[in-house]
Amino acid sequence: MSVPTIKLNNDVEIPIVGLGTWKSPPEKVVQAVKDAIDAGYRHIDCAYAYGNEKEVGEAIAAKISEGVITRKDIFLTSKLWNTFHRPGVVESGLRTTLKNLGVDYLDLYLIHWPMGYKEGSVNQPLKPDGTVDSSDYDYVDTWKAMEEVYKKGLTRSIGISNFNSKQIERLLEKAEIVPVVNQVECHLYLNQKKLIEFCKSKGIHIEAYSPLGSPGRVGAKPEDPIVLEDQRLKVIAKKYNKSPAQVALRYQIQRGNIVIPKSVTKSRIQENFKLFDFEISAEDMSVIDTFNINMRFIHPSGASAHPYFPFNEEY
Ligand SMILES: NC(=O)c1ccc[n+]([C@@H]2O[C@H](COP(=O)([O-])OP(=O)(O)OC[C@H]3O[C@@H](n4cnc5c(N)ncnc54)[C@H](OP(=O)(O)O)[C@@H]3O)[C@@H](O)[C@H]2O)c1
Repeated sequence: MSVPTIKLNNDVEIPIVGLGTWKSPPEKVVQAVKDAIDAGYRHIDCAYAYGNEKEVGEAIAAKISEGVITRKDIFLTSKLWNTFHRPGVVESGLRTTLKNLGVDYLDLYLIHWPMGYKEGSVNQPLKPDGTVDSSDYDYVDTWKAMEEVYKKGLTRSIGISNFNSKQIERLLEKAEIVPVVNQVECHLYLNQKKLIEFCKSKGIHIEAYSPLGSPGRVGAKPEDPIVLEDQRLKVIAKKYNKSPAQVALRYQIQRGNIVIPKSVTKSRIQENFKLFDFEISAEDMSVIDTFNINMRFIHPSGASAHPYFPFNEEY
């Protein structure tokens, strides 16, 4: 089945479901991407910082040479890592990703976080006290450099990730190009209602990351609630004869969000794509809305004192 798309604010179409690749081990991600393409996925969410872009590129190249897809059939996203915020290195950051993926353009390039880190070869540069070694680069200046790589045609669209509403306001004051998306954590326990409404009013779509509650994340505490184990979710899933994961993903799609579940397990990759043969009723959507507890699972370690740390605002 062909995956439905959404038109972004620059008229580029994005498939509403994509495969996440964070924490996908390089030796497993090749098969995962191949399985995803065979299952019908046409959108892969990558990042320089995930350390597996070369392997993602290998899988895409294999599917192109098998004749299953052409380059233009697949929507490729990647992200500018925090150590590349100096405007002068944005293009080289993007070009490194293009080389890793073995392609000559991206479909979407995001600023991964509003926070710049000390430039260099270490992804998580730390000070002796264990906190992040930040850089002073302003994300607004980084954005201006993103606009330049977009104008050069190195990427078909540009966006942001992990930006709060105030940071977006500030960025829009100087931006010539409005970001097409803001990719943020979004699931049943952090449904981002206010941020979604805010972004919508600016023409910015939401990409929901960790839509299953990121069960494999580092730093998960035993007392943390588990999205896919939620009894209320299980009851709704049973009613539709679907899995809890499928309901959690369909919930995002019906809210108009793009969703990017990660898996390296073939059966789950297939399961997470079977979202188009059922519809959650308006009543059940409202019930699921009530599961929100503003529970954020993804915290960049040691960065909470960064001047551009995004999670101190309400939304
Ligand atoms: N922009 C950002 O800062 C940012 C931050 C976080 C994530 N992301 C993006 O969003 C993607 C998704 O987020 P995420 O990886 O944090 O978490 P997620 O997609 O919510 O959850 C992934 C985890 O759920 C398991 N899983 C997948 N499908 C399942 C199913 N049907 N039933 C039960 N378990 C299932 C996976 O296990 P297996 O793989 O073992 O099957 C994996 O451990 C990332 O991969 C990345 O591309 C972006």
